Amino acid sequence: MDNILEVKDLCGGYGEIRVLKGVSVSMKEGSVTAFVGSNGAGKTTLMRLLAGLIPVSEGHVTLNGTVLNKLAPPDRLALGLSLVPEGRMVFPDFTVADTLRMGAYAPHAREGWRDRAEQMYELFPRLRERKSSQAGYLSGGEQQMLALARSLMSKPRVLLLDEPTLGLAPAMVKELFSILSDIQKTGVTIGLVEQNVHAALSMADYAYVFEDGHVAFEGIGSEMLASPAVKAAYLGIDDAA
Ligand SMILES: Nc1ncnc2c1ncn2[C@@H]1O[C@H](COP(=O)(O)OP(=O)(O)O)[C@@H](O)[C@H]1O
Ligand SMILES: [Mg+2]
Repeated sequence: MDNILEVKDLCGGYGEIRVLKGVSVSMKEGSVTAFVGSNGAGKTTLMRLLAGLIPVSEGHVTLNGTVLNKLAPPDRLALGLSLVPEGRMVFPDFTVADTLRMGAYAPHAREGWRDRAEQMYELFPRLRERKSSQAGYLSGGEQQMLALARSLMSKPRVLLLDEPTLGLAPAMVKELFSILSDIQKTGVTIGLVEQNVHAALSMADYAYVFEDGHVAFEGIGSEMLASPAVKAAYLGIDDAA
């Protein structure tokens, strides 16, 4: 498998504040890559840099051989990179159906949007039930599914999700992970920022642990979970406790 996304020596942040201090990560086509680490470690900042929401100050981001550094978010979307941001960000007044349609707004995604919306209702039966409801009236879990479905409407090759399970009930977390696994089976490459370390590493082919703006540890998700030393040192999981 080739790397569809490559990030090399990436630095960036907010104005004078440099949050990421030389981050190199890659994602293999069709894989799931997890990004974990404590609050404030820089995971969301990485997602914003990848999506083009904040500028790269050093290093580069390459998608399928194309350097993205100077490209605006819509251009990255057209190349197949889509971010489901932290906090979902669905418009509360839009209905579920309109939100899906809006997800296919980019020129490359317009053709066949009705068929794709139908596929979304197959993948997320809850959304079909709530088709005509305004997004603001959905539960947190349903809103997360809607945000995810909206992203899929843009036909991403690489789907990035920032804390998709935050605040969701355990049953909903399970349902969401199962849907992510279905999405992976369709060939979409997934990048997952998660505080739910165990679930994320169980699903991930490869994982990066962030600390203070850099990658402190990386490896195969299942191997990391199998190592008490790695868990204690990097994941805040103490088996002896
Ligand atoms: N909009 C912002 N302006 C200034 N600093 C920010 C902003 N957003 C995040 N930060 C800072 O960047 C650092 C990394 O934050 P973030 O990327 O959100 O971490 P994580 O997602 O891993 O919790 C933190 O110190 C945070 O305070
Ligand atoms: Mg975050």
